[in-house]
Parts: sequence; C-alpha cells; structure tokens
Amino acid sequence: MGRVRGVRELVGLPKAHLHVHLEGAMRGATFDELAGGRGLAGGGFGTFGDFLGVYGAAARLVRDGPRENLMRVVREVVEDAAADGAVWVEPHFNPLTYEDDPRAALELLDAVIGEGRRAGARLGVGFGVLVYARRNGAPAEAVETARLAADRAGDGVVAFGLAGDESQYGPEPFAEAFGIARRAGLIPAPHAGELAGPASVRAAVDRLGARRIAHGVRAVEEPALVARLAREGVVLDVCPTSNVALGVVPSMAAHPLPLLLEAGVRCTLNADDPLLFGAGLLDEYETARSVLALTDAQLAAVARTSVRSSGAPAAAAEEAVARIDAWLEAEDAGNPRSSGAGRTRPPPPR
Ligand code: ADE
Ligand code: ZN
Repeated sequence: MGRVRGVRELVGLPKAHLHVHLEGAMRGATFDELAGGRGLAGGGFGTFGDFLGVYGAAARLVRDGPRENLMRVVREVVEDAAADGAVWVEPHFNPLTYEDDPRAALELLDAVIGEGRRAGARLGVGFGVLVYARRNGAPAEAVETARLAADRAGDGVVAFGLAGDESQYGPEPFAEAFGIARRAGLIPAPHAGELAGPASVRAAVDRLGARRIAHGVRAVEEPALVARLAREGVVLDVCPTSNVALGVVPSMAAHPLPLLLEAGVRCTLNADDPLLFGAGLLDEYETARSVLALTDAQLAAVARTSVRSSGAPAAAAEEAVARIDAWLEAEDAGNPRSSGAGRTRPPPPR
C-alpha cells in the first residue's frame, strides 16, 4: 500500500470562503440564545420557499434586535472561518434589508466592515463584503443596492451578488445594477444554476457579466456551457451540502463537482448557510474528500481558485497560494503513520 489517503489535515489548507450568507451563517447556539429557546427547522427543506421562510426568520431575528447582535454574528462568522482554516471570508450582506434609508444603510455597512476587519485582524483572516441584491425585490431596489456597494468598492466591499428565488426571477432585470457594480470594480457574483438550469447560468454571464457564480452547478445539464465556463474561466462557488438539502442534486454521491473540475471549470467550495444546512466550510472540504473523492491536488486547486478569485488583495492571495502549494508538497503532514512511506505519488498538476 502507498500512503494513507487523507493524510493532510484539511484545516491546514489555506482557503477563502466566498459563498456564505451572513445571517445564514449564524451559529446554532447564537440563534438559540437570540430566539430565546424557539427552535429552527433544519435539515431537509420541502421547497425552496420553505427554506426562504426559515432563512427569513433567522434574518429577522438579527435584524429586529439590537445592532450588537448583528456585530456578534459578524465576529462569529470570522471566528468560524479562522477555525476552519480560512484566510479570507466574504459574506453576503444587504444593508437595505436592515435600513430603508440609504444613509443609515451605508453607516450600517461601514459598521459591518469595521467589525469584520477588526475580528479578521485579530485572527489572521481577511474580510470583504459581498453586497447582494434581492431577486424578489424591484430592479430599482437592486440599483440602489448596487450604488451603495459601489460607494464602498475598494473600501470593504469587494463583490456584488444576487440572491433569492431564481426559478421565479431571472437575471435580465438586474443588468443595470450589475453594470453599476462592475464599473465600480466589484466582482460580479450572482446566484444562478441552482433553482434554474443552463439558460439561467448563460444569462448570468451574458447579461450580468458574472465572473463568479454562486452555485452554477446546473450548468452540467449542457456540456457546451460547461466547456464555455472552463474556457472563459468563470468560477463556480459550489455548496454541496446546500445542494443536497434543497434537492438541487439527488444525493451527495451524485454531486457534479468532480465532473465540473475534470472539465476544467474553476470551482470553489462553500457552505452557503451553515445554520440551516448544518455544515461549515471545513465540513464541505471534508465531504469533498470523503464522499466526492477529490484528490488532495484537486482540493488544493479548489483552495487556490478560492483565494485567487476572492476580493483579497493580490499579494495576500499569492501568499496564500504559496502556503497551499506547501500544504500539497508536505508529504507527511499530520499523519505519523505515513512517515517515510508514499513516495509513489505523481507530482501535483500545476
Ligand atoms: N439566500 C440564502 N441562501 C440562498 C440560496 N442558496 N439560494 C438563493 N438565495 C439564497
Ligand atoms: Zn447562496
């Protein structure tokens, strides 16, 4: 036998968390405390509408309480990212779901950025906000959201997204908002290819200029589209546990991530809503190794893509990439049983 698989500790693999909704990443214990013992429906969800209902209840709990509760969630999201070996975290947040007045919303956005950066500085994790617009809101609201995001582009906000029910609200009406975000230098990163198929993914690229797509996994239904994503370097911010819980894929074993990677599509691993789906960032990497059978070279490639396609400053991303390469090159990391064994591994692909 060669070396034991899974020898490298995945917590030690530097990575970026790019697809995680701030309120959906609240710790279960924090939810329980804020909810005063009221429970949260978790696990599987019958429909996406059921899921959005539960997500909305969690979000309202934070929104309707003192702002310190929101700041606590920000800190805890950064702490959980650090514990999972992330060097960068980029939560989805929309200040207009908290404050109608744009000036108050901007102040709140600044407070979130400040809190995230302070926690990150303490823990060695970079922090940038992905401001998202709501699909089920009016396109004019999305434009207002994009202007707010653009006001802090390069100053705490790094990306612009679009979330909500993709099956009912296509991307086209949000083209103007994404134009504003792109011109401000924000990474265009809408949800697509989760609740709708290839046409929605194509429209996200063609109409919104998406360079990263939250999910995007249903692109597999059209091989020509998969080839195009690979050719154009569009990144998919994939969330396997979420996809299983919401019935986007029939089972974890059937998840298309390995197929997408083999087709040359750049993919990252993410948790989406850990509070609701029960898995954090590190859990997703562990599952990708244990169930999806990704090799350490593939897991390192996923981590490299995550830091390089994040909003992290280029120097920080390249420093993380060097550490990812070192992780992959370390033969015996974390496994005393494998010392001296396993020299048969081929060199990792670059
Ligand atoms: N909001 C929170 N999680 C979401 C998801 N997985 N898809 C769309 N909108 C969301
Ligand atoms: Zn999401």
